[in-house]
Amino acid sequence: MSTCYLNGRFMPSEEARISPLDRGFLFGDGVYEVIPVYAGKPFRLQAHLERLGRSLEGIRLTNPHAIAEWADLVQRLVDAHPQWPGQAVYLQVTRGADEVRNHAFPDVPPTIFMMTSALVPVSDEAFERGAAAVSAVDNRWLRCDLKTTALLPNCLLRQLAVDQGCAETVLFRDGMLTEGAASNIFVVRDGVLHAPPKSHLILPGITYDVALELARTNGQPVEVSEIAEKEVRNADELWMSSSTKEVTPITMLDGQPVGDGRAGPVARRMREWFVQERGKAS
Ligand code: PDD
Repeated sequence: MSTCYLNGRFMPSEEARISPLDRGFLFGDGVYEVIPVYAGKPFRLQAHLERLGRSLEGIRLTNPHAIAEWADLVQRLVDAHPQWPGQAVYLQVTRGADEVRNHAFPDVPPTIFMMTSALVPVSDEAFERGAAAVSAVDNRWLRCDLKTTALLPNCLLRQLAVDQGCAETVLFRDGMLTEGAASNIFVVRDGVLHAPPKSHLILPGITYDVALELARTNGQPVEVSEIAEKEVRNADELWMSSSTKEVTPITMLDGQPVGDGRAGPVARRMREWFVQERGKAS
């Protein structure tokens, strides 16, 4: 049994109801966040809520709550599930439900929905094995910096991986690396950690920020610049990062081993730093 939050009320998840005219349902007109929780504490909550604010601004929807109010709601939802020390809190705001289907923005209250699910941190075994990925052309829109619920392109791209028994799809636009279908992608070459710069073509990942911050703090050389497809295919190490996958090595790309086909030395160091970091309060 789980509790969710809908429009001002906590309730059993199976009791939650929204209108079929909700613009999230009709148009994918909403934004969301996924916030990892370790030992009952949301990780990098402030950064997630700030990004939520930027996504809302990007779709011209007024933020219904101040950061402190959001933080309180998130913590109450987390506290309602003490059986799960690790959680992934999902939070969504849509432009609400009009009385008719009309593309133009209505003057109605937003729909605010939050749920949480158990999150099992990536195990040492899963980390060492790494994940297999495929690649595809990034055919999404030009505002990938906004975390919108309109994820059909991401779902179609991710399914290409699933169809081949793989975990993620690495995306290239005009021959350059953008990100994964639901993750950011990093490359290690000759001991240097490379990441594509933030732009309208990728989601500014919170885990991406954590990884770069940990690298810099620990003296790991970092370069943030455009990464050509060839550099990805010749990488010593390839990683994906997200709030639910943390930093996980990609050890196979399009059926070819990446490096020696196992988690690399830089990834292992990053994992140690990350495990320490997630032990701290947000
Ligand atoms: N996805 N890029 C895309 C397209 C994503 O969907 C995600 C995360 C990321 C990583 O962002 P972060 O580190 O802030 O989680 C990058 C979430 C987890 C999801 O849709 O479930």
